[in-house]
Amino acid sequence: MLSRAENERLTRIGPGTEMGGLLRQYWHPFLFPDELPPDGPPLRVRLLGEDLIAFRTGAGTVGLLGANCPHRGASLFFGRNEEGGLRCVYHGWKFEASGNCVDMPNEPAESNFKHKIRHLAYPCVEHGGMVWAYMGAGDSVPPLPELEVTLVPPAQRWLSKRVQYSNWVQAMEGEIDQSHNSFLHTMLNPDDDLSPRNGVARIRAVDTAPQFKIQETDYGVLIGSGRKAGEGLRYWRLTQWLYPYHTMTGPYGENPMRTWRCWVPIDDQNTLVMGANFHPLRPLLESERGGQNLVKGGFRIRGNVFYIEPEDRAPATSAPFGAWRPKATLENDFFIDRAVQRTKTYSGIPEFWAQDAGVQLSMGRINDRTIEHLGTTDLGIIAARRALLHAAQDLRERGAVPATVHHPELYRVRGAAVLIPEEVSWIESTHEHRKVLAGVNHAGV
Ligand code: FES
Ligand SMILES: [Fe+2]
Repeated sequence: MLSRAENERLTRIGPGTEMGGLLRQYWHPFLFPDELPPDGPPLRVRLLGEDLIAFRTGAGTVGLLGANCPHRGASLFFGRNEEGGLRCVYHGWKFEASGNCVDMPNEPAESNFKHKIRHLAYPCVEHGGMVWAYMGAGDSVPPLPELEVTLVPPAQRWLSKRVQYSNWVQAMEGEIDQSHNSFLHTMLNPDDDLSPRNGVARIRAVDTAPQFKIQETDYGVLIGSGRKAGEGLRYWRLTQWLYPYHTMTGPYGENPMRTWRCWVPIDDQNTLVMGANFHPLRPLLESERGGQNLVKGGFRIRGNVFYIEPEDRAPATSAPFGAWRPKATLENDFFIDRAVQRTKTYSGIPEFWAQDAGVQLSMGRINDRTIEHLGTTDLGIIAARRALLHAAQDLRERGAVPATVHHPELYRVRGAAVLIPEEVSWIESTHEHRKVLAGVNHAGV
């Protein structure tokens, strides 16, 4: 449970807020490079509560400008993308990606007014198959996080994203919460769970109350959930939560494919969920791209945590991230099928991501954490909240930034899953599993 004031501090990320200050220390992924062709049309973007316009020059530079022209406020979305800059269609002022105003054709030729105008502009770079923005103040930008997904060759990763109509913290908390995997996403009959996760599904069905352990680290929080697996063994699934919103859950099977996800606030009430499947050692198989391709009990479970199948997306619009929005919403109950819920799946909600989003939106756009009752399996969530609140406060009061801002190598960690004897330490036995090591990919379970 949080106080009302703590909940506000945790969730609000607009300009001038404490958490917004912390998030503005970091780079944020938000576009895929092919969404912005050189000299192509600009895109509306909304990040951290700020309305912005993205465009790419003919030379390939990505610009991210304040949405409204500094002359008299027309939207630069209508702008002309021409010769290295974006020109406002109202009176022709032209801006470079840097925000410099380089032409002001409605002023006398001898005027130097344009040199006095610098429009809001945030630096953008491509990294790991995504365009990232830095929205901090000041001239020095930090290094980009060395997440493994960004370091592997393009053929070894598959990326997607989706919009979720809720605050970013409750969306992210769903990923830290391994306890819900015994319920929300399950089949009523574990035998229907025909997948590499079959053994895991049985473990989850038998032990529905995992033991939770946490370890605070310099990159975030390591969360272990341990389930009894029989014969004196325990199945530990280790989730990594990294500042300010990256998550990596434990992988499945031998030489496993891995996942990464992040929970980028569009504003206080909406989240851009970005994620990837990736393999440290080899190109992905076709079956490892797209949805989970799981057929359970005669159902194909569509989508995955960060992916909406194209036929399940709402018609694309020019609103921010308007091509990545779902048809399934709270208004249509995420297409819950009560007959399926009675006979086949725990939730009755057909799409995988919608199972998570459905319960998370049902909390309200911003979850009221003053009325919750956290149990032993919520330890990871409590730790991540504390870490964020402390970091945001330290920054505001002492100007201290978390180590992750200036040490991108701290991001070189992995999620893990191991089956170990009850008496063996979940931390000590997983050192190697949790490091990004060249040429090594430890087994999941
Ligand atoms: S409002 Fe953009 S140039 Fe006038
Ligand atoms: Fe989930």
